[in-house]
Amino acid sequence: MVSTPPVESPTSGLSYLPSNEGSTDTRSPNQELFPLTARVNDNDTLEIGGCDVTTLTRRFGTPLYILDEATLREACRQYRDAFQRYYDGDSLVLFASKAWSCLAVCAIVASEGLGTDVVSGGELYTALKAGVSPDRIYLHGNNKSRRELQRAIEAGITIVADNWNDLNILVSLSEHRPTPVRLMLRLTPGIECHTHEYIQTGHLDSKFGFDPDSLDAVLEFVSQHPSLSCIGLHAHIGSQIFELQPHCDLPKVMVSWWQRAKAYGLPVTELNVGGGLGIRYTEADDPPSIDEWVKTVCENVTAACREAGMPLPRLLCEPGRSLVGSACVTAYTIGAEKTVPGIRTYITVDGGMSDNPRPITYQSVYRTVVADRMSAPATETVTVAGKHCESGDVLVSNVRLPKTQAGDVLVVMGTGAYNYSMSSNYNRLPRPAAVLVGNGEANIVLQRETDADLLRQDRLPERLVSMEDR
Ligand code: LLP
Repeated sequence: MVSTPPVESPTSGLSYLPSNEGSTDTRSPNQELFPLTARVNDNDTLEIGGCDVTTLTRRFGTPLYILDEATLREACRQYRDAFQRYYDGDSLVLFASKAWSCLAVCAIVASEGLGTDVVSGGELYTALKAGVSPDRIYLHGNNKSRRELQRAIEAGITIVADNWNDLNILVSLSEHRPTPVRLMLRLTPGIECHTHEYIQTGHLDSKFGFDPDSLDAVLEFVSQHPSLSCIGLHAHIGSQIFELQPHCDLPKVMVSWWQRAKAYGLPVTELNVGGGLGIRYTEADDPPSIDEWVKTVCENVTAACREAGMPLPRLLCEPGRSLVGSACVTAYTIGAEKTVPGIRTYITVDGGMSDNPRPITYQSVYRTVVADRMSAPATETVTVAGKHCESGDVLVSNVRLPKTQAGDVLVVMGTGAYNYSMSSNYNRLPRPAAVLVGNGEANIVLQRETDADLLRQDRLPERLVSMEDR
């Protein structure tokens, strides 16, 4: 059971609306519970991107991911503009596409001038098909297959080596090629942060990256293989981080690695400080803005370089959640209700852990509103359960909502990151559709899966076909 404190604050869904409504001063999307364009229309219904959410659900069905183009673009711009404001050197923001890898999201982000980080052949394929330029794609992964590395080399993207296995395969694949492979090295910085233990990566006991103790051996190896051109160093601390301190500490560590790489004659010019900036899932969450985060990174990289007598590197970062997380909501239709006297009332929606596995995986907490009655006072305390055959399939516990009935549209906010990308067909539920909304238009960007899709990869051996069916 996911246990969360009851929500005291909202008197109605209106209290979740973006605080900058009607103002020209745009807040950072990662500090809002709703997408920036959210408003309530004259029917007391939630509108996003100029589209009435209840109309969208009638047109496209539920569950439905509703992605607000303006919010996603605004987050991209805030990252890009902040680097221009606070950094004197060259920079590139990469979208960590694991947060939501699909053609439309990758294409929007690329059109804002961002690059993309991919962690598998599948994410690479998606980024390339979305039109992301190979010189802006970086491949991560702690167990890349030979085939994935081969594809990456052929596509001409940059490969971030995570371990000796990567290096050995890369040497064997690149030795006779005319141009060297563009390589970065990922190291574990030994910096801890406060986030769920499953999404910490910077501490030394991590499956990702080279241990810093092996740095000299790695640098020496790379320096001896001219088919590997080591152009950069990488570190990532973790995800959903609200503290700025880890990013004050990281640049010093990375610049010291860079000095050692220089001693081996490696052509390092890029430092990638990873992603990790958190978003606001509940009113208790208070993440720094994108601007503050970038400012911290830039100032500390600049100071660390100055202190070490190093030039400014080309500075990269790779946010996922803070780009796309707050840009999307998921709309569900409410169905069954069950009251366990004296204990709790469950209301059930037509999705759950298959379209949002984060509550059951990380005990993540979300906020939710009844989209067809936004100003109705919150009079009930309920637990929103999913429809899966699993007691832990609870999306939000002990939440204050207006009295609901079957057929109402329930919206869960902040579902843009690691929802679709971690979705499954558990209990053979087809994955939801996703619509992109903006200026009153809605376009399907992911079709709802059908029953036929569920059987697409099934094969029934002849000997299992019953005699009557033959
Ligand atoms: N770079 C690397 C190397 C990463 O491993 C990650 C996330 C990122 C960038 C992007 O981090 P972000 O800016 O999104 O925090 N499924 C989990 C999150 C896993 C994060 C994995 N790595 C969740 O739903 O919270």
